[in-house]
Amino acid sequence: MVKGKTIIVGITGGIAAYKAIALCSKLAQSGAEVHVIMTKSAAKFVTELTLQTITRHPVYTDTFDERDPSVVSHIDLADRADLVVIAPATANAIAKMTYGLADDMLSTTLLATTAPIVVAPAMNVHMYEHPTVVANMETLRKRGVMFVEPGFGQLACGYVGKGRLAEPEEIFAWIESFFARRGRRNEPLKGRSVLVTAGGTIERIDPVRYITNDSSGKMGFAIAEAAHAMGARVHLIAANAAIDPPSGIQVTRVVSAQDMFDAVMRHMAESDIIVKAAAVADYRPVQAALRKIKKSGGELTLHLEKTPDILQEVGARKTTQYVIGFAAETDNLEQYAMDKLRRKNCDLLVANDVTAEGAGFGKDTNIVQIYDRNGLVETLPQMAKSEVAFRLLQFVAGRLAGETD
Ligand code: PMT
Repeated sequence: MVKGKTIIVGITGGIAAYKAIALCSKLAQSGAEVHVIMTKSAAKFVTELTLQTITRHPVYTDTFDERDPSVVSHIDLADRADLVVIAPATANAIAKMTYGLADDMLSTTLLATTAPIVVAPAMNVHMYEHPTVVANMETLRKRGVMFVEPGFGQLACGYVGKGRLAEPEEIFAWIESFFARRGRRNEPLKGRSVLVTAGGTIERIDPVRYITNDSSGKMGFAIAEAAHAMGARVHLIAANAAIDPPSGIQVTRVVSAQDMFDAVMRHMAESDIIVKAAAVADYRPVQAALRKIKKSGGELTLHLEKTPDILQEVGARKTTQYVIGFAAETDNLEQYAMDKLRRKNCDLLVANDVTAEGAGFGKDTNIVQIYDRNGLVETLPQMAKSEVAFRLLQFVAGRLAGETD
């Protein structure tokens, strides 16, 4: 979880500074890029050389000791950090953070960073319980600063009580779990494969004419983009759509319902989630004419046959896949949606009333209702298709993680 993360470890002046060496060592061994900033008092307890050797990076103690002329050190470090850990944090360091003092390398970096900050206090028990320290910590908590509580036990000053710096293993475990939590929140579909269909299929009548529908592909493309942003591997199977596919995803272009059927069946097994946002033709000419059909007589009869129902086939063949169908309706939304969900064996069905203002074909927004086997589970009012996509996939991620009943 910490591999590749840039972590600033701020060490302030207490005897527990020696434990920061073990923490930095664990972080560095786990693949984190560790940059240490020490206060002048910390440097009285542990040496720069020790921490530099462990982290393989220069240790910062002086704001004016600029070693790389191309950057301003405290701003550069502040910008690059994924997390700032202050361990041990003295009462003085906590007070400086609370009041925004910036008189050394660590305090200026703390003001300059927008990265999350976690503080592991270590001090005498009476200091830790002093109302000023308690109030300062409360202020920092309200600002979003996180804490790894000190332990209870024998303190270096001779007292027994709360104030011992949490053990390096405990701080390390907190950091790992922090990145794990953040990873799940930001990329809840990480490790999943999502297959999305989008656009309207084209069924040829002859070389110059075809049957299609009004789908622009916007809804399906938005779902593909949101899935990618949420960490999934995405395969977009796109029929006729006049927009560019989002970058970073695999795209297969298809024309007809049969082409889409073949592509979906080929890639179904490797997918964890299948979203059928495409508007697939229900009928196609029995035979597409090889030459342009000439005008003759008063009427022309086209013989149509049913196309394969891709979603129904996916529903019939699915093993572990989570299947989401769409329903484009003009009336009786709930009844038709529930009927499609059951007939096509979907896990979820997203219904849109395509006659509603701000919803359906070609629009940038949509209004949808999401159903599962038990009925309506969520109604999304008019919002951008990108937002519908994000909310839908968040719901799916929650279901897959067992968070949403
Ligand atoms: O593309 P946009 O302009 O952004 O518009 C979005 C949309 C209106 C197309 C989209 O929100 C939507 O509703 N897509 C489904 C359209 C549709 O074909 O609905 P349907 O009710 O006819 O079909 C039900 C489901 O079965 C759909 O998931 C469809 O993909 C699937 N189906 C239908 C027929 C068929 N032969 N094979 C299928 O897989």
